[in-house]
Amino acid sequence: MKIVTVIGARPQIIKASALSRKIQNKFSDKIEEIIVHTGQHYDENMSQVFFSELQIPKEKYNLGVGSLSHGKQTAKMIEGIEDILQKEQPEALVIYGDTNSTLAGAIAASKIHIPVVHIEAGLRSFDKRMPEEINRITADNVSTLLFCPTKAGYDNLMHEGFAETITNRPDFNNPNVYLCGDIMLDNTLYFSKQTYQQSTPYNKTNDNYILCTIHRNSNTDDKQRLSNIFTSIVEIAKYKKIILPLHPRTKKMMPQMLSANLLKQINENPNIQIIPPASYLEMICLENNSQMIITDSGGVQKEAYFLQKPCIILRPQTEWVEIVEHKMAITADADINKITDAFTQFLNMPKKNTEEFCKQRETLFGNGNTSEFICQTIIETLG
Ligand code: UD1
Ligand code: UDP
Repeated sequence: MKIVTVIGARPQIIKASALSRKIQNKFSDKIEEIIVHTGQHYDENMSQVFFSELQIPKEKYNLGVGSLSHGKQTAKMIEGIEDILQKEQPEALVIYGDTNSTLAGAIAASKIHIPVVHIEAGLRSFDKRMPEEINRITADNVSTLLFCPTKAGYDNLMHEGFAETITNRPDFNNPNVYLCGDIMLDNTLYFSKQTYQQSTPYNKTNDNYILCTIHRNSNTDDKQRLSNIFTSIVEIAKYKKIILPLHPRTKKMMPQMLSANLLKQINENPNIQIIPPASYLEMICLENNSQMIITDSGGVQKEAYFLQKPCIILRPQTEWVEIVEHKMAITADADINKITDAFTQFLNMPKKNTEEFCKQRETLFGNGNTSEFICQTIIETLG
């Protein structure tokens, strides 16, 4: 069968690599995958680096859409994807997560009756001011196969009226919803074996540092929130080194949003190391060797949990409620007191027994072989 995979933003390229690897290694006689890159992310270190490093087959089409307003960006993507679908006539379209590229794929395919496969379905922040929440809800509602990484995601869909029943031939009006584990864990387990305890140009093995990432628009585009976050980082840097791979959005917004004085405290701080966006292997290595992670990224907070690192989430809520419930993460929002209190709390937290932790991780996120289940299910129901 022929499938078209739509990717565009950094986390999607990474997630899609797990499925592409599985198709190449196990299902190449059954699935032909055509990759469409929308061009939402385009810098070498936000896109191409992952293709080379994770051995993803080169995209057949690149729409080169680039950075635009939500409406313009999504519209250009829909137009381009529709043309490709008309030409390729695949049996299914595969989308990941909750970006504008996800939404565009979902709309383009469903309108011309090509079944949509949504990987990372069912997640909700219950905050419709997040662009990602609109994208997720819409994508889920036009999908035929919905793969939920967590029980919370599955339950959200059931509460929204999706049916538990699984049918042999699902369609637009009778979608199948599966609870199948998290495809990101496939990658973390696969690649952390290769990178464990190695160093990157930015850290040495057993370095004592905190890894931090910031890119959520609700933080970068709000003066008060971004100032609070960086004031907290400057405070924490009095005690620990901080490594911060900087997302291009944050790099662009920092000079506009932060005072000259705060910028000086950040840029001249020997304990704050700002680096370009890391490659995936560098990132896994930086996560693996860190003492704690501070982030507003959905993927990075999850990887923190996968690698048993405590995580301070720079958001008021999270879709990954399990990691907060299991006390491995704290939603500290952009509140200076909450962030610094969480830092102190985690510094003194004893580490759980590894075997016990791995059991818990499997219950919450699966066993790292989610891509195989997804491939098999696509073949059986849509092939
Ligand atoms: C997007 C996703 C977000 C995801 C994130 C992952 C949407 C609505 N948002 O946010 O859910 O968490 O990707 O990283 O789809 N830029 C560059 N070079 C690039 C890419 C972006 O300089 O290669 C800069 C541009 O100034 C651009 C800004 O970053 O305007 C934001 O990029 P965009 O793709 O619109 O949103 P992200 O914040 O990256
Ligand atoms: N990531 C990376 N380099 C970085 C920051 C993140 O490779 O400098 C990886 C990270 O390991 C995870 C994914 O990108 O797999 C998360 O993407 P991002 O934080 O951009 O978006 P989100 O998950 O919030 O949508």
